[in-house]
Amino acid sequence: MTSNKDLKIASLLAIVLFITGFTCYAAFPPPSPDEPVRLMFQNAAGKVLFTHTVHSYDYDISCLDCHHNIEDDDIYNCSECHEAEGDDYVPGRTDALHQQCIGCHQDMGAGPVDCNSCHAM
Ligand code: HEC
Ligand code: HEC
Ligand code: HEC
Ligand code: HEC
Repeated sequence: MTSNKDLKIASLLAIVLFITGFTCYAAFPPPSPDEPVRLMFQNAAGKVLFTHTVHSYDYDISCLDCHHNIEDDDIYNCSECHEAEGDDYVPGRTDALHQQCIGCHQDMGAGPVDCNSCHAM
């Protein structure tokens, strides 16, 4: 026989598990379909392969750390603001990418910092 008390404990447990499950689900949303999985940057120094999904999820970097944005929380291509030629205030596209990519690899002591290890193809 199941007592009333057991039933109460069981349903309480069910509620707690449901909330935990839902919170975990909500905290780690699946990648949205318009996020690039990987990007290949074509340029004069040799192609650079950038593992976009791996960086965001496996290396645990939040979107807005890279897609820093001054106006709203939307995500734009860097070139929207970083044109080919920069100025004193806003760095140009290559400088912006070099500073962000290499800067983080240096800070974290992980990831390529030598020209050829990024411009590998
Ligand atoms: C480690 C840095 C980094 C992280 C973290 C990151 N991104 Fe990106 N993302 C980039 C770069 C660099 C590009 C290429 C931008 C360019 O070519 O100007 C890009 C491109 C994109 C694009 C295509 C934009 C376009 O208009 O071409 C989308 C959408 C995007 N990212 C969404 C996201 C989302 C959502 C997250 C978080 C889940 C995220 N990104 C995390 C660096 C990052
Ligand atoms: C909505 C406009 C906008 C977008 C999109 C944008 N930036 Fe910037 N970025 C700026 C402005 C403005 C500055 C200069 C002022 C400042 O530092 O905030 C800047 C400065 C920087 C700097 C200089 C260091 C720093 O943080 O001050 C780096 C590096 C940089 N951006 C990288 C990127 C990269 C990489 C992307 C794309 C993933 C990107 N930015 C997208 C507007 C933008
Ligand atoms: C906020 C931090 C951060 C930024 C910004 C960042 N990276 Fe990384 N990157 C990492 C970390 C952490 C690793 C993992 C190194 C390891 O585990 O050995 C890594 C690894 C890599 C690797 C080797 C492994 C792989 O996943 O391919 C490449 C290539 C790379 N990054 C390219 C880039 C490029 C290109 C950019 C700029 C568009 C960039 N990264 C921006 C943190 C960053
Ligand atoms: C962490 C990865 C990484 C490292 C390390 C790196 N680069 Fe780059 N490099 C990039 C990315 C990303 C771009 C931007 C490609 C784009 O604009 O689409 C780029 C662009 C360039 C360009 C093209 C400029 C243009 O106007 O077309 C040159 C040249 C270049 N890098 C040279 C170098 C040299 C020299 C070194 C070593 C001192 C170096 N890079 C180190 C990732 C890297």
